[in-house]
Amino acid sequence: GRPARPPRVLHPDEGVPVSQSRSETTRFPDGFLWGSATASYQIEGAVDEDGRTPSVWDTFSHTPGKTLDGDTGDVADDHYHRFREDVALMKELGLQTYRFSVAWPRITPQVTADALGPVEQRGLDFYSALVDELVAAGITPAVTLYHWDLPQALEDEGGWTDRRTAERFGEYAAVVAGALGDRVRTFITLNEPWCAAYLGYAAGVHAPGRTEPAAALAAVHHLNLGHGLAARAVREHAPGAEVAVTLNLGWFRPDDESSEGDRDAVRRVDGLQNRVFLGPMLRGEYPADVLEDTAAVTDWSFVRDGDVETIRQPLDALGLNYYSPTVVRRWSGEGAKETADGHGDGASPWVACDDVEFVELPGPRTEMGWSIDPRGMSELLLRLAAEAPGVDLYVTENGMAAPDVVGDDGVVHDDDRIAYLHDHLAAVLDAVEGGAPVKGYFVWSLLDNFEWAYGYSKRFGVVHVDYATQVRTPKDSARWYSRAAAENALPA
Ligand code: NOJ
Repeated sequence: GRPARPPRVLHPDEGVPVSQSRSETTRFPDGFLWGSATASYQIEGAVDEDGRTPSVWDTFSHTPGKTLDGDTGDVADDHYHRFREDVALMKELGLQTYRFSVAWPRITPQVTADALGPVEQRGLDFYSALVDELVAAGITPAVTLYHWDLPQALEDEGGWTDRRTAERFGEYAAVVAGALGDRVRTFITLNEPWCAAYLGYAAGVHAPGRTEPAAALAAVHHLNLGHGLAARAVREHAPGAEVAVTLNLGWFRPDDESSEGDRDAVRRVDGLQNRVFLGPMLRGEYPADVLEDTAAVTDWSFVRDGDVETIRQPLDALGLNYYSPTVVRRWSGEGAKETADGHGDGASPWVACDDVEFVELPGPRTEMGWSIDPRGMSELLLRLAAEAPGVDLYVTENGMAAPDVVGDDGVVHDDDRIAYLHDHLAAVLDAVEGGAPVKGYFVWSLLDNFEWAYGYSKRFGVVHVDYATQVRTPKDSARWYSRAAAENALPA
């Protein structure tokens, strides 16, 4: 018989039972892949080496006031020079797969809106060496083609508000797929286009820091189009690889289930965060209610004939990034409006949602201030399984920030992170038992790193990084996760 999973409480002192897993087993399916994830600008450093030109994140992070303490990715984890050490660390931990991203400005540093420009061989060589190192260590590479470091030159000509950015992205994807496709299992076109579009162009808290709602919706469309063009390019240039995309779907619940207004608020934000991507990608259409809700902001005339067909490409896998639940209600218009959406306090990323309130939840939070509820993990995986039958699923990110310190004993005791990972992995098991074809899980993140506007103040790694010395110290969670990977099961 299978061992029963011990019940678990996340924050015993608060008495909030977070794990509501229904699953009886602690075992994952055979062949389930255990991995970790990172992104280029967050870990690489070496921003002006080997021909790399600036990305929007170089510009943004070097603009006073945009990131906490003025932190930048100039050095980050110095992974560009230490990748062999980092791969060795993954191997030692027994991790089986690694999701990293390619920095576009390393590959075609002279790109303009009208021409991709020459390929920078030194940039390709870096990623090729990384892939070789991974394969030699028995670690399966998964490559994200776009994790937000858009070449600044493209932003100067409109960035994602301009459809030429999508066209150039498709061409760049062909280059990377052609160079790495013989050794990479999965190509993920985009990471979290929601953040790139709305945090970058509406809220202004991410690069390029614009606060124009109409631009954000144009960015949504051109990111979708870029996905379709890149998916097609990967299919052609890396025929043996899986084609995937990573979305940060929101798990939205109404404050009051019986309130029609609150349920309508859920529909609205679900449209803007989830269905505006899933609709064209899976069904080849934008949801009519989203077009209607946003009609005062844009007429969507940037959508041209044939675009939605281009966006709907056959997918082998969908990647879900999940961290936190969201509760909304219809705002009465009186008193201070609650905006606890977990994305800081810039302008609102929520285009055409003036009457939606984001409700602060009681209970445990991570260092980001994000509430914890693993049920969203199962529900979103089951939703994807239902909406995309036959498409494999990965959890391409999940994890938590905590105020980790290396103790006098040289160890980082991050019990809260272990509990968080335990409960979310249990939720993955629930989804698997419910029929969701989840093939792997990538903890965010391998290393502490540059957490965008929060700079180095938020530590998500299972491995601690001392930024002064670049010393890596596996936290207790890394040891725990390593055991889970070895046993292909939740450790007892
Ligand atoms: C989403 C992003 O993909 C990643 O870059 C970020 O660091 C984590 N979530 C945590 O916020």
